[in-house]
Order: sequence, then C-alpha cells, then structure tokens
Amino acid sequence: MNRFEEVITRKGTRSVKWDMAEQLYQDKEVLPMWVADMDFKTPEAVMKALKERVDHGIFGYTIPDDLVKDHIGNWLKTRHNWDIDADWISYSPGVIPSLHMIIQSLTEIGDHILIQTPVYPPFYSVVKSHGRHVVKNPLTLNGGQYEIDFDDFEQKIKENHVTMFILCNPHNPVGRVWTKDELEKMSEICLKHNVTIVSDEIHADLVLGSHTHIPIASLSEEANQNTITCLSPTKTFNLAGLQASYIVTANKKMKKALDKQFNNQGMFMLNTLGITAMEAAYKHGADWLDELKEILESHRDYVMERFHEETNALKVIPNEGTYLLWLDCRELNLSQKELKSFMQKKAKVGLNDGASFGDEGEGFMRMNLAAPRSIVEDGVSRIIQAVHEHK
Ligand SMILES: Cc1ncc(COP(=O)(O)O)c(C=O)c1O
Repeated sequence: MNRFEEVITRKGTRSVKWDMAEQLYQDKEVLPMWVADMDFKTPEAVMKALKERVDHGIFGYTIPDDLVKDHIGNWLKTRHNWDIDADWISYSPGVIPSLHMIIQSLTEIGDHILIQTPVYPPFYSVVKSHGRHVVKNPLTLNGGQYEIDFDDFEQKIKENHVTMFILCNPHNPVGRVWTKDELEKMSEICLKHNVTIVSDEIHADLVLGSHTHIPIASLSEEANQNTITCLSPTKTFNLAGLQASYIVTANKKMKKALDKQFNNQGMFMLNTLGITAMEAAYKHGADWLDELKEILESHRDYVMERFHEETNALKVIPNEGTYLLWLDCRELNLSQKELKSFMQKKAKVGLNDGASFGDEGEGFMRMNLAAPRSIVEDGVSRIIQAVHEHK
C-alpha cells in the first residue's frame, strides 16, 4: 500500500485535530478536516533518527549545532534557490512564537502592522496582543483567483504610517503562491515607505504543480536587508508537535534585536527531538516530499472535479500551494452561523470557519486535504450529500 493511503487512527494521541474535535463538535461522527497538520506518517528516515535518539535515553539540554544550520542552508538552496549564511539563522520553537518575538522586538506599542486578509487567524492576535494595530489590505477575488490590490496596499501603508507588513507566502487560507512580479511590487512599496517585511513561509515547501516558491528576501540585497523570514520543517514533514523552527534575518541590527528578545524570554534552546527530526527531514526527506506533493495535487483535483460535477453550490478556489482548500459556499445562501452548523451537523465534517480568517472569509470554509484519499472522499461525499438534501 502506498504510504499516503494508510489510514492511521490518531484518536487517543492527544491530537488537536482528532481528539479536540470531539470536544469542539460534541459529536463523534464529525470527520476532522480542520487544523493544519497531516494524517500521514513522517518520513521513515525521520522516524529512524528519532528512534535512535530515543534509544540513547538521555534527554539533557541540547543545542542545535552548525551541522543543523548546514542542513537548513542546503535545503533552502536546493528547494528554493536561496543562498543564505549560517549566521542569519535563529532558532525558535515555532512560527507563532517567532511572530510574537519579532513584533515585540522590532515595533513599538501603537504601531500599525499590515496584513492581507482573509488570513491565518494568529496574524490578527499576534499584532493586537502587544498593543499594535492591524491594518488590512484585503485580497480581491477575481474570476476564482485571489489578487493583491497594490493601490490599496500602498495607500494603507501611507495613511496609517505602517511600520511592518506580515506576508503569508504561500497564503493560508487562499492558497496563492505569490509570483515574482507580485513579490517585487510588494517589496518595492515596503522599501519606499520603510516598512519591514516579515515573511511567514511555513508552507514554502508545499507548492503544487508548476508553481515555484520564491522567498521574498531572495529578490535583491535590499529586499534581503528589509526582510525577516519565518520557516519550519514542521508543516512539510508533519512534525508540528515537535516544535522546531527557525528565522532567517540577514540584517544584523534586526537579528541582534530579535535574538535579544528571545534571550530575554529565556528561549534559547530547542526541543531535543525537534532538532533530530529537523536534521533528518532536511537530510533525507526530499523524495518523500516530492511524492507527498503529487498526492496533495491529486486530492485537490479530485475534490474540484467532484464539486464541479455534482453540485454548483460550492466553488473551490484552487490552491497553488499548501494542503488547505478554500471553499466558496456563498451560493448556499446561509448566514455564517448557519453555514458552520450545516457543515458540522448536516454534513458532519469539521472544517475551519471562514470567518475566523477575517470578515472577508464570510461565506467560506477551509478544508484540510492532507489525509489519505479515502478520508478526503468521505469528506467530499458527506458535503455533497448534505448540499443535495439542503436543496
Ligand atoms: C501561515 C502559518 N503560519 C504559522 C503556522 C503555525 O506555525 P507554528 O506551528 O510553527 O507556530 C501555521 C499553521 O497552520 C500557518 O498556517
């Protein structure tokens, strides 16, 4: 059996996606297709490295050494054509902790920070929780594809004296992989108005088909000096519970401020097993990842085809990257509360509420496709049947 076809029970593993779903939906029948992790085993080589490390039996304080930085550098070079220096890297337990640290160390209370909505919900909370203000540059939906309104982007920066922009590339939840042209435009506007770019590229490795991920920092030396990039092997290799990620900052002044912030919070180490997993994944995970991407692409095409053929009430926004599918459910003519209840109680699938990504997500739901085909098929069939009954 193909390793991406095996259905593995995750219930009882303290899984947020599966165990919390029961509490959240109060219904054992609901199929969890929400939080962004995968129902696939991590690559064999990662499991082997972890087992060997566990067998050692001692889990004292551990530091990621230069070898880990070499593996990160190699990965970024081979997968994303980006040459970095080892001393641009700082470690962090996760991208969300990184965003908190970046905001605290590089902006002031009362500052305005730009985000492109609808977007991953913590982008709002990391800004607001430190007394900074969210400024929105809503993405526009044109002919089934999301685009950036660049006039609004610049206008919002000027009007609000924005000091930082948090980019999501590839974008969660709309699935865009921003093109070189789009990235260049954003980078130029930010440089012109002294806006620091924080680029969350946690989904970078998960670009599908002919799409290419371009790290915005790799565009030019100016862009590199103006950008802080947050990366991680955790989405790519399904390691979120091991909490190991890193930040790439070429700008020495910004890196110094950031590292000081981490130190001041007592965060200067990584989880022992997280380091082991990161190293093994970057060293041995490339073929596994290529296979995964084909599976994810075929799942997306399958879901699109079924919705297209069996109901015209749901439109799929094709994801160019990520394993998250943004579903336009507006033609069901339900309020957001009714839509959530419809998916949960009628279809019995646990999707993410579109409105949790911002007002622009009203009428939408997000579906996680990183599961064996049988689970994806089950989820789609449940939704289609509920839509037919609804009519
Ligand atoms: C865009 C984005 N950033 C960050 C995260 C979470 O990162 P971490 O688990 O490293 O904090 C996610 C998880 O879904 C995400 O989609």
